Amino acid sequence: MSGFRTIVYEKREGLAWVTLNRPEVLNAINLQMRDELWEAVHAARQDPEVAVLLFRGAGERAFSAGADISEFGTAPSYVEARRARQQRDLWGFLETFPKPLVAAIHGYALGAGLELPLFCDIRIAAEDARLGLPEVNLGYIPSAGGTQTLPRTVPRAIAAQMVLTGEAIAAREALRWGLVHRVVPRERLYEEAERVARALAERPAEALSCAKRAVRRGLDLPIEEGLRLEARLAGRLLRGREARERLATWLEGRAPRFPAP
Ligand code: COA
Repeated sequence: MSGFRTIVYEKREGLAWVTLNRPEVLNAINLQMRDELWEAVHAARQDPEVAVLLFRGAGERAFSAGADISEFGTAPSYVEARRARQQRDLWGFLETFPKPLVAAIHGYALGAGLELPLFCDIRIAAEDARLGLPEVNLGYIPSAGGTQTLPRTVPRAIAAQMVLTGEAIAAREALRWGLVHRVVPRERLYEEAERVARALAERPAEALSCAKRAVRRGLDLPIEEGLRLEARLAGRLLRGREARERLATWLEGRAPRFPAP
């Protein structure tokens, strides 16, 4: 796909990379980027050639420093932002995205620049990453899902600390709290993210989609309902051709060996 001005969308061998591409303002997410992200993630969802979608930021300094503050506070922009949010619920769409999402994070990942990775299934950080939700310092609160997704990702006390103080934490601390899955040297960031994405891309798409749904949706249900959801999804998969063939292969001793992600 081409014609984007604030992002780059590249597809190769089953993976699609979305690069936030406004490095001169630390990849701040303005309304145009939001619209282009909406189009790119829809394209990736519909494209049968895309198994996994990855996000990264252009330039040396940031994954993204969050929503574009220069668009705040002006009446037309406020109305525009509300309209965009109502018509194109990017964050809600990412929350239910059926394919694996991977974020490769370097430098600043602040505000929406952290909330976007929070919708991802795997977050790989470079050693220089700094992650935070600084909105409270600007007099408001995270509004791309952060107050909900962060406490579902890290211990509640850490989420409360991050949301209330607005202070960013370094990559190693983020690793300790489970906010990122892995920390790697900056020069290995994209290679590592691709390695994980490729391992996921080898697994059956329908099973991945159901696994995502069971984990994400299940967390918000009472356990009895969560167990019913799991049973329904597992039953649906077991009735499908893919699972039947894979189970038969396994029973014949010819099971495929997957590398650990
Ligand atoms: N929106 C719009 N522009 C932003 C931005 C944002 N969220 N974050 C950074 N920029 C711009 C700066 O205005 C500056 O542009 P300029 O060169 O035209 O002045 C450029 O990016 C570089 O940022 P700068 O602040 O000069 O770099 P720094 O190293 O001094 O500080 C940060 C880096 C990330 C600490 C600082 O930019 C910052 O606090 N940004 C806002 C983070 C934030 O609150 N995000 C949540 C928004 S809801």
